Amino acid sequence: AVPTAETPAASIAPVAAEPASKEVTILFGSQTGNAQNLAKKSAKILTDKGFQVTTLSMSDFKPNNIKKLNNLLIIVSTHGEGDPPDTALTFHEFLHGKRAPKLENLNFSVLSLGDSSYEFFCQTGKEFDERLEEIGGKRLLPRVDCDLDFEEPANEWLEGVLSELGNTSTAASSVETQELATLSETEYSRSKPFLAEVLEIQNLNGRGSNKETLHIELSLENSGLAYKPGDSLGIYPKNEPELVDLLLTELSFHAEETVSINKKGEIRSIKEALLSEFEITVLTKPLIEKFTAYSTNESLQDLLKKENQDKLKAYIDGRDLLDLIKDFGPWNFTAQTFVAQLRKLPARLYSIASSYTANPEEVHLTIGAVRYSAHDRNRKGVCSILCAERLNPGDKIPVFIQQNENFKLPENPETPVIMVGPGTGIAPFRSFLQEREEAEIEGKSWLFFGDQHFVTDFLYQTEWQNYLKSGVLTKMNVAFSRDTAEKVYVQHRMLEHSKELFEWLQEGASVYICGDEKHMAHDVHQTLINIIEKEGNLNREDAEKYLAAMQQDKRYQRDVY
Ligand code: 2AM
Repeated sequence: AVPTAETPAASIAPVAAEPASKEVTILFGSQTGNAQNLAKKSAKILTDKGFQVTTLSMSDFKPNNIKKLNNLLIIVSTHGEGDPPDTALTFHEFLHGKRAPKLENLNFSVLSLGDSSYEFFCQTGKEFDERLEEIGGKRLLPRVDCDLDFEEPANEWLEGVLSELGNTSTAASSVETQELATLSETEYSRSKPFLAEVLEIQNLNGRGSNKETLHIELSLENSGLAYKPGDSLGIYPKNEPELVDLLLTELSFHAEETVSINKKGEIRSIKEALLSEFEITVLTKPLIEKFTAYSTNESLQDLLKKENQDKLKAYIDGRDLLDLIKDFGPWNFTAQTFVAQLRKLPARLYSIASSYTANPEEVHLTIGAVRYSAHDRNRKGVCSILCAERLNPGDKIPVFIQQNENFKLPENPETPVIMVGPGTGIAPFRSFLQEREEAEIEGKSWLFFGDQHFVTDFLYQTEWQNYLKSGVLTKMNVAFSRDTAEKVYVQHRMLEHSKELFEWLQEGASVYICGDEKHMAHDVHQTLINIIEKEGNLNREDAEKYLAAMQQDKRYQRDVY
């Protein structure tokens, strides 16, 4: 029986040892929304259990108030080279600085989200965990680090939290955590995706372009799903059949041999399992470590030695599971032990390129096809190439909506918006502008777009021109990087207009950046600081503070990947 909200709290939880321990604060640091979703679900379950729960984004929490807390749960993701989400930056910095208070009464536990194919896996969670202990916090239970497939370990963590907070019966708590996975059973979600029909697929690039950017329209009819500008769509892709066949041949497994694909014991043929259930294109250090148990090849043992770290990194770069299998045989596993080592094929998130109000029961995406050659083989992005090569109108694919509270239009319609979105980073701004047109919003808007060539790569060109004509878009500046001898990027255009751009900031404009994180978003960030420094007559440090304050006020938001 699942306890309901009306169940008296006292009948569920034994009396806690300390009176204050019924109060729990959950702080989340989320970039794409996963940490936030987990925080909300955990809060619901703890509340149903009779706890008084406060759930807050780290950016909405007054850092010094940590002194007043008794029970703190932290749910935080890690990005790029071990960086905290934007919304966690201030709190993270405060805790690690000299002003961090001495904690005397704090019990805490950390749930850390990440991706084990990155070197600094779950780094931010690790840092919070270590630091909280350092300044006097008492760890309720050990930190749990989750890979892309976070649902199960997150459940286990919450189960642990419940039992530590005074729920001694594990039987009761596992009922609760089952609920975590199946919360809102009637609705389509990450764990229960909707099969959306493809209405249209179109390559936005002209003939002769170096790129293939897909515009995809999907139907959400009868799904009950809706979304807001800034949200993302999750897609569960399938692996490429040719790659699966090559793997099966290399491993000498029979395609129809069956394997169990999860703890529940669901059965698939190995071919079907490799197509739809498991990740085979990303090589990670933890994966290679697991595989060593099934090979006697000494060069594999060698590669994992501490002194060969750089070699291992170089090996992983641009290679996949098929390379590993080819390079380090002979292997001695059964089909079952083989699949048991693999990560679940994770959903891909794409920033939605349409407004729901403007296109009821539809969702549009802008997806760049990923193709490259490495180590004598052509490599392909799993989901983007599924869309580019094997998906047709009429087909259905499993999708879900991922809300993103960190990338939202200003609440005040008068607030000017500055949008920077080169390449596929343009997607959410198509959604923003459609929405603003639909709602007849009068506030000013300014779009910076860039791509390689004007003639072939000006994505959605006529739409922007129409918006400029009708006034939905106030200003637009474009940077085509490969039409001139010298490269021009969006940030160069921003600099050219630095005076006006700073005026917009002073008027209260919100700034949005979407697209490549490592190069573009980083450079645009630096450019914003340069502009603020120059036009605001500030020193570097104060210019940085100006931008940090904008971020804190949600006037500087990024959706970067
Ligand atoms: P490039 O590929 O010619 O270098 C969308 O992909 C656009 O972003 C392209 O014009 C690309 O230019 C450009 N781009 C690449 N690196 C960038 C960076 N660091 N900052 C801004 N734009 C960049």
